Amino acid sequence: MTRILFVTGTDTGVGKTVVTAAFAATARGSVAVLKPAQTGVTADEPGDLQEVQRLTGVADLHEGVRLLEPLAPTTAGRRQGVVLPSVDDHARTIEKLAVDRDLVLVEGAGGLLVGLDDDGNDLADLAARLEIPFAFVVVARAGLGTLNHTGLTVEALRARGLPIAGLVIGSWPAEPELAERCNLEDLPATTGVPVIGRIPAGAGALEREAFVAAAASWFE
Ligand SMILES: Nc1ncnc2c1ncn2[C@@H]1O[C@H](COP(=O)(O)OP(=O)(O)OP(=O)(O)O)[C@@H](O)[C@H]1O
Ligand SMILES: [Mg+2]
Repeated sequence: MTRILFVTGTDTGVGKTVVTAAFAATARGSVAVLKPAQTGVTADEPGDLQEVQRLTGVADLHEGVRLLEPLAPTTAGRRQGVVLPSVDDHARTIEKLAVDRDLVLVEGAGGLLVGLDDDGNDLADLAARLEIPFAFVVVARAGLGTLNHTGLTVEALRARGLPIAGLVIGSWPAEPELAERCNLEDLPATTGVPVIGRIPAGAGALEREAFVAAAASWFE
């Protein structure tokens, strides 16, 4: 059965793209990646999907809409005068991809409650429209503050009845400090969700071969 994984995070810049690439690199079988809304890049600049391709070689990439300014999709769309695809459009795209792929990865924009369409629907609303099973992965920071941010994101997912496969630390330092070591222990206890992976800091700068070879070792 196709697995649909939504990769959300506690914030922008927490490593969702690197985590998405790590899942793509370890997938057995066919994998498609969807970025419903990419902001902050021109038409010829690499976006998150191109970063996933650079790190993994996966080329089955689907970008819903691309917007110039580095802002939330609804804000960038409004300022640019672009009508955004609806979350229903994205849900239909995911269901079509799921027909003949083993894994479909969906990387959100920013955190969970960032609006993706002109009705203000977010990634949680998108997932709730799917008629096939799915799960969320929450990418979190390692350092001080992550217990609260991760707790908030998990609580929002639970309040909407959305399944959570696990937490992934987007960037785990080579020499973790006290707060980071304690957070690793406390995250499952405070959120009730296991930490299923840790991406080493610097992994996003690896060459493709090294990234793909190491990716499996980053997951439990
Ligand atoms: N494990 C890592 N190794 C190296 N660089 C990392 C790692 N995690 C994150 N980064 C870097 O941190 C920055 C933010 O990460 P990333 O772009 O993956 O965040 P994001 O959660 O996908 O943000 P967005 O909301 O823009 O999609 C990037 O420049 C990325 O290369
Ligand atoms: Mg990203």
